[in-house]
Amino acid sequence: MVERASFEITGREDFSEVTYSLVVHHPLMAKAANPGQFVIVMSHEAGERIPLTIADFDRHEGTVTLVVQAVGKTTREMQQTCKVGTRLYALVGPMGLPSRIGHAKKVVCAGGGLGVAPVFPQARGFKESGAYVIGVLGFRSKNLIFWSDKFSACCDELIICTDDGSAGIKGFVSDGIKRAIERHTGIDEVVAIGPPMMMKACVETTRPHAIKTIVSLNPIMVDGTGMCGGCRVKLGNEVKFACVDGPDFDGHKVDFADLTTRLRRYTEQEKLALQRWSDTCRMKEPLVSGGRNVAATPPHPPATELLELPDPFEDVRGG
Ligand SMILES: Cc1cc2nc3c(=O)[nH]c(=O)nc-3n(C[C@H](O)[C@H](O)[C@H](O)COP(=O)(O)OP(=O)(O)OC[C@H]3O[C@@H](n4cnc5c(N)ncnc54)[C@H](O)[C@@H]3O)c2cc1C
Ligand code: FES
Repeated sequence: MVERASFEITGREDFSEVTYSLVVHHPLMAKAANPGQFVIVMSHEAGERIPLTIADFDRHEGTVTLVVQAVGKTTREMQQTCKVGTRLYALVGPMGLPSRIGHAKKVVCAGGGLGVAPVFPQARGFKESGAYVIGVLGFRSKNLIFWSDKFSACCDELIICTDDGSAGIKGFVSDGIKRAIERHTGIDEVVAIGPPMMMKACVETTRPHAIKTIVSLNPIMVDGTGMCGGCRVKLGNEVKFACVDGPDFDGHKVDFADLTTRLRRYTEQEKLALQRWSDTCRMKEPLVSGGRNVAATPPHPPATELLELPDPFEDVRGG
């Protein structure tokens, strides 16, 4: 009998009611990973395959870190089942083209909400290449801030923005980018990652200044190998597949309206899948996380609340 590899979860932290990180032991993946790449995960044998960005990797420890937002059936299910000591059934990757770190001398790395996590390896990569790195992190509110310590360690400047003004400047990620542009000449590149509306706002902020702006696109993916065409995105007149041609693209060329329309295509089916899962889910007890932040882990909400999850398209956090 051939024994399958499986990937132990060695760490977990809950940042909010809906956002959590998983540290997964996978030395080969950690060795091969580069900023900007992603993995496709199956949490159990019958589970859906979902793409998640490699938000951090530690070649010495042999781990990769994923940061997940519970927006639907699978991410909600993983929030309950993926505890320290459990194993992911499958982890494929690293997938996608690595981000081009290049020779930029001054860069802005901007993340909104969950987008803060995938922009981290790029900020660190730019710092390691000798660039002056300005981090711009946007959250709805102070209590949702995460990883500001990790960014402080690799950024020369850090601008925190909150929608409600409870920390840093009151405003969106695009306001933070505006501030960086006002204060600095010679910004070579902006990297902006977050919900489509946030990335669009960032792109419109840099366009008048002709600053190269890279965004990371997250269309619905199926195979992740360029075969199914599910992840097609439009850049001007060109069509690209985010899984093999991206996920990083020139933000000034991206057709964000098309991206949003395609992302909403299966909304009804996704609601049904979540409803079916919540109806049959027997794990109604509070989540007992093996992570560091157990005390902050909220109890599992009743099934009736399960449909009130964050909307991945809402134009807060930078829009
Ligand atoms: C390259 C890439 C990197 C990503 N990185 C992260 C990450 O680091 N953390 C994170 O929380 N999420 C990430 N996502 C989004 C994540 O894959 C979806 O949130 C997840 O698949 C939703 O599954 P669900 O069953 O929980 O929700 P569903 O109810 O099925 O979907 C909720 C929404 O998520 C999107 N989605 C659904 N299925 C897919 C799919 N197969 N591929 C892409 N998007 C989908 C749709 O827009 C949908 O409306 C990434 C997506 C891509 C393409
Ligand atoms: S996910 Fe199938 S082509 Fe990209």
